Amino acid sequence: MTHNIALIGGDGIGPDVTAEAVKVVRAAGVDIDTTDFDLGGQRFLRDGEVLSDGTLDELRAFDCILLGAVGTPEVPPGVIERGLLLKMRFELDLYINQRPFAGTAPGGDTPHEFVVIRENTEGMYAGEGGSLRTGTPHEVATQGSVNTRMGVERCIRYAFELAADRERKHLTLVHKTNVLTFSGDLWERTFNEVAAEYPQVDTAYNHVDAACIYFVQDPHRYDVIVTDNLFGDILTDLGGAVSGGIGLASSANLNPARTGPSMFEPVHGSAPDITGQNKANPTAAILSAALMLDFLDEGAAADRIRAACAEPVTGSTTDVGDTIATRVRN
Ligand code: NAI
Ligand code: MG
Repeated sequence: MTHNIALIGGDGIGPDVTAEAVKVVRAAGVDIDTTDFDLGGQRFLRDGEVLSDGTLDELRAFDCILLGAVGTPEVPPGVIERGLLLKMRFELDLYINQRPFAGTAPGGDTPHEFVVIRENTEGMYAGEGGSLRTGTPHEVATQGSVNTRMGVERCIRYAFELAADRERKHLTLVHKTNVLTFSGDLWERTFNEVAAEYPQVDTAYNHVDAACIYFVQDPHRYDVIVTDNLFGDILTDLGGAVSGGIGLASSANLNPARTGPSMFEPVHGSAPDITGQNKANPTAAILSAALMLDFLDEGAAADRIRAACAEPVTGSTTDVGDTIATRVRN
């Protein structure tokens, strides 16, 4: 069966690392048909398009979207992040951001393996707020956190389903219920209610600041973590830092209801400092493509790709891609 993939290489190292990911997927024997979409900071500078509704409708027709990285120093912050990445997450209802982590923490000796499930469409990123009297001494800015019962529950349910399917069957809620009492109460009550339906899953709760300590000092306590949009964004950068670094961190933006395509991307950005030098590590993009294959029911190929990435590879972008592709073929 042929999978139709929309390819958004994006800016900087993005197109280079996605090219290696496509190479490895093909080496794994998965039949994909790719269509390039020229989007990102460079495209915006050329003709002003970030992501038009027409382009978004074209994307809806694909099975999945594979994205490299977007953003370029000449474009002010926020334009591409909100106009492209957040627009895709909101409009395609990619309400789960799933990020797997595996590695040995710096200073640690035993490897850990856990998954963070981050709510991807609400919270502080919903864009609630505004500013007034900007640039004056009486300036005011507010940024609200939006939490709906539906949005929180579907995210928590997804995390319980995932935990129930894993060997350890352990799920930790991370929040800040002692201070963010309104949203924290909604998250905690929903978590406890859904937990009653999954008696086979062990549960725990950590405040987000304590979770930061445990990520570094005791990551083995975690199996699956569920948290809100902002905490998840920050915590997953820390997760990457204790799990082999940014060159390995992969992510999936999922619409589990499958009312549209899901989107897969490495956690890193466009790395303007090393663009054009064939130096970027494509492993994060390759592992993101493996997450895409999981979602496309090509789990055996995805496992082969993960196994091929387990043994570290050094070298240029294309060398690393070639080596992993060769391992996958054999
Ligand atoms: P970045 O992730 O692009 O780079 C941070 C550092 O990590 C740099 O030193 C870079 O060389 C290194 N790095 C990143 N990926 C690497 C790889 N695969 N192999 C080896 N080294 C790698 O983050 P930065 O510098 O904050 O952002 C650069 C641009 O990317 C900005 O425009 C930013 O908005 C955008 N960005 C886009 C993201 C996305 O498309 N999802 C995510 C993060 C940033
Ligand atoms: Mg981030």
